[in-house]
Amino acid sequence: MSSTESLVYLNGQFLPLSEAKIPVLDRGFLFGDGVYEVIPVYGGHPLRLEEHLRRLKESLASIQMESPLTDAEWADIFDRLITGPADQSIYLQVTRGVAPKRDHAIPPGIKPTLFAMCTPIAPIPLDGIKAVTVDDIRWDRCNIKAITLLANVLLRQEAVENGASEAILVRDNQVLEGAASNIFIVQDGTLITPPKGSEILPGITRDLVLELAHEQGIPAIERHFTLAELKSAEEIWLTSSTREILAVVELDGQPVSSGKPGPLWKILQSAYQDYKQKLRNVSADH
Ligand code: PDD
Repeated sequence: MSSTESLVYLNGQFLPLSEAKIPVLDRGFLFGDGVYEVIPVYGGHPLRLEEHLRRLKESLASIQMESPLTDAEWADIFDRLITGPADQSIYLQVTRGVAPKRDHAIPPGIKPTLFAMCTPIAPIPLDGIKAVTVDDIRWDRCNIKAITLLANVLLRQEAVENGASEAILVRDNQVLEGAASNIFIVQDGTLITPPKGSEILPGITRDLVLELAHEQGIPAIERHFTLAELKSAEEIWLTSSTREILAVVELDGQPVSSGKPGPLWKILQSAYQDYKQKLRNVSADH
C-alpha cells in the first residue's frame, strides 16, 4: 500500500520522482515559459485550494494559455499525491510544452506540460528571521506566478550571502515584497501591506492574514510604504504558503524594535495556527 519513494504527477501519469523526465525542448526548460503554484496542506487538506487554482488560471491567462484541467481534476491529482496527515506542500507547474524547435515566438497547437509533487513543509522559525533590503531588479508583471525566477533567485542569494534568510525588495523607494513572500509592517498599531498590482504577487497567505487581522480587530490598510517607514516599523512580517507568517527581527543588521517577534505578530501567529488546526480537523469525507 505505502511505497518508500513518493509519487509525482507528470502529464497524466503518477510515477516515482526519479522516473519523471521532460524533453529538453520543453519551453519551461528553454525559456522559463510557464507558471506554478505552491499550496500548503494540513491534515491532508489543501489550504485555500479554490483561491490557489483561481490564481493559477489568472497566471495562465496572462501568458496566453488555457487552463489544462478543471479544478476537480487538479483536486483528484492532489489527493493522490498527498501522503498522510503531516504538513506538506503541493508544487504544481504548467509549462507551454514541448516545441518542435527553439524559437521565442509561441508555436501554435502544442500541448502543455503538467507536473505536480508533494513535499514536507520545513518547521517555521518562531523566534524570527533576519532580512536585508535590496533593489528590485524584477520585471513589470510580478503578479504572474511565473516559473521565470532568475531575479528572485539572485536576490534571495544576496540575502543568504549577507547572513539573512530573505531579501526585501525596494523599487523607487517603495517597499514591495520579499523575494518569495509578501510583506507587512506595523506602524502605530496598524498593519500596512502594499496594494495588489503588477509589482507584487497577490499572495494567498497575504489575503488570509488580512482576513484574520480583521477578525482579531487589528486595523489593517493596503497602501505603499517607503524604505524609511520600513526602517522605523514596530514590526515587520513576511508571509508565504510554506513559511506562514515570519517575524523579521533584524533588518539590514539592526534589530527591529526589541529584536524579538512583536505583540501583533503573536496574535496573528496564534490565529493562523488556529486556522490551520481547523483545516486539520475537517473530516476526511468532506
Ligand atoms: N512563493 N511573493 C512572491 C514573489 C512569492 O514567490 C510568494 C510565494 C509570495 C507569497 O504568496 P503565497 O502566500 O500565495 O504563497 C509572495 C512561493 C511559496 C514559492 O515560490 O515557493
